[in-house]
Amino acid sequence: MTSPLLEVRDCDAFYDDSHVLHAVSLRVAAATGVALLGRNGAGKSTLMKSILGAGPTVRGEILLEGRSIARTPAYLRAGMGLSLVPEDRRIFPHVTVAENLAMARRAARQGVEALTPAEAAALFPMLEGLLDRKGYQLSGGQQQILAVARGLVPRPQLLLLDEPTEGLAPIIVQDMAAQMTKVRAQSGAALLLAEQNVSFARHCTESVFVIDSGRIVFEGSWTDFDANRARLERFLAV
Ligand SMILES: Nc1ncnc2c1ncn2[C@@H]1O[C@H](COP(=O)(O)OP(=O)(O)O)[C@@H](O)[C@H]1O
Ligand SMILES: [Mg+2]
Repeated sequence: MTSPLLEVRDCDAFYDDSHVLHAVSLRVAAATGVALLGRNGAGKSTLMKSILGAGPTVRGEILLEGRSIARTPAYLRAGMGLSLVPEDRRIFPHVTVAENLAMARRAARQGVEALTPAEAAALFPMLEGLLDRKGYQLSGGQQQILAVARGLVPRPQLLLLDEPTEGLAPIIVQDMAAQMTKVRAQSGAALLLAEQNVSFARHCTESVFVIDSGRIVFEGSWTDFDANRARLERFLAV
């Protein structure tokens, strides 16, 4: 059997004395989309950061294409085909959209040609014509799309998106959903998507994990999810 692209195996995560993730296991196969649903404080961001080695202390195994990265420093994991778009976006406000995109090129894996700013912007109609705009001149929705486009610049094998729809108007969320589907098809990247917006997550992925109080409480296809919806409701955002 071939290894999944990403496997988190029995991981616990801590912030100092605070034990946040408990025996979390999750797999993402190459080129597939996986949603991670859960309410505020459930542990979604902690899991994303644990995969990148960026913050929490992690005990357990994290494998990329079957090889352990649990002890690989964060800056090296970013160069291994993992690209995280964090929940706080981290757009640079005082440089242009093109420069924001260009800065992500150095995160490409060895031998992989990163997207140019124009190529990355072309993936998202919302960014067209904005390459010379400064980060602070963008709307919240445009900034979020820019953050996602920037995540794709290094042509990652796995894009990790942490609540990309948070705070966005429904019409922008709809746009983003349509564009994500297209971008996934074009790039071939796998997606791990932390979300509270179930319909957006459903649109962008094929399978679902639900996390609550740092424990995985459901894993399955969207069909399985629907069959268990009554039981899962209390783990989802209201
Ligand atoms: N830097 C941190 N230090 C201490 N506790 C944290 C930190 N970040 C998050 N937590 C706690 O970890 C738990 C999970 O948070 P988080 O992973 O951000 O959840 P989610 O992304 O699902 O909203 C929460 O109880 C939160 O208060
Ligand atoms: Mg979060």
